[in-house]
Amino acid sequence: DYTPRKEHRFSFGLWTVGWQGVDPFGVATREPMDPAYAVEKLAELGAYGVTFHDDDLIPFGADDTERSSRIASFRKALDNTGLVVPMATTNLFAHPVFKEGALTSNDRDIRRFALRKVLRNIDLAAELGARTYVLWGGREGAESGVAKDVRAALDRYKEALDLLCGYVREQGYDLRFALEPKPNEPRGDILLPTIGHAIAFIGELDEPDRVGLNPEVGHEQMAGMSVVHGYAQALWHGKLFHIDLNGQNGPRYDQDLRFGNGDVKSAFLLVDLLEHGGYDGPRHFDFKPARTEDESGVWSSARSCMRNYLILAEKARAFRADPEVAEALAAARVDQMSVPTLGDGESLADLRAEELDLAEATVRGAKVEHLDQLALEHLYGTR
Ligand code: GCO
Ligand code: MN
Ligand code: MN
Ligand code: MN
Repeated sequence: DYTPRKEHRFSFGLWTVGWQGVDPFGVATREPMDPAYAVEKLAELGAYGVTFHDDDLIPFGADDTERSSRIASFRKALDNTGLVVPMATTNLFAHPVFKEGALTSNDRDIRRFALRKVLRNIDLAAELGARTYVLWGGREGAESGVAKDVRAALDRYKEALDLLCGYVREQGYDLRFALEPKPNEPRGDILLPTIGHAIAFIGELDEPDRVGLNPEVGHEQMAGMSVVHGYAQALWHGKLFHIDLNGQNGPRYDQDLRFGNGDVKSAFLLVDLLEHGGYDGPRHFDFKPARTEDESGVWSSARSCMRNYLILAEKARAFRADPEVAEALAAARVDQMSVPTLGDGESLADLRAEELDLAEATVRGAKVEHLDQLALEHLYGTR
């Protein structure tokens, strides 16, 4: 059965189910949603966690009284339902003050304001028990290449991360940062556009161990990248701190479809990787319930994100357990990739002394297609 339960560790952003359907061409199609209500509904559906931007919970510019009462009502809903807050993040993109950037705005006063906004919400995140703090640089970038010194902007991005890491260390918070790459939208070109750019950037930080990634399925696909290869490389670097699961149909605007829609084969291979590749963080959904839907459609699509994950996890298990698949994997020499190219005790001289039977090796087929067909048939449900 595909019933989501707490041990599956499914989580949702408040901004996902709460999305009102505003897009660049149209106004809201749904009413605002009270965070406490969202928490109760998500718990009912079987989620274990909820995540938030500061502004999802506390409207921008709220006074201290309103702030406290909003937080209290959210806390009460968490206590009533047992839902946890595994991750939190900052809205550094909606308010017009961030129109030219936040942590990397050309305007120094705005950079300082952005940093204050992050610090304040880090305190709240730590208070609520979050272990991951996401930084998605939605406005960090440009349309006109002429007005952004990218190297200086990366200096400022690094400066911000170094300051934030120092703050978390000094406070003794059990919190790590996760950068979320995205190639474009809302900016024409966003800094740290892909998993690869972000990993390289992390290597330049003062405390690289405190910083990893929160890659989003659709964002890698918007960049024309393989999301499965990207997540796998992040895992290989020990940098897959958190994930945003959703769906996308190739390079186009950011669709944020419910997980399992869009590129279904990638979704299958991704779940296989997450389930069998050593990822142990939350299964977090960052999707937008379609603008065409009313509230019942919101909950139906949230439920479907989890259901699709569980369906694909079962298919991945069945794929791995299929004896014909085991044979096909061996025939394609997939297991041989784990054998070091130079054997134990061998030297390069041994390797150089050896000769390849070039004629035989050249004609030998790689046996990939048969294996791939078996994967598809598991996915199609014929096996
Ligand atoms: C997007 C981004 C955002 C971030 C969120 C958390 O596509 O708009 O994915 O939804 O994930 O701001 O940092
Ligand atoms: Mn997205
Ligand atoms: Mn989005
Ligand atoms: Mn996201």
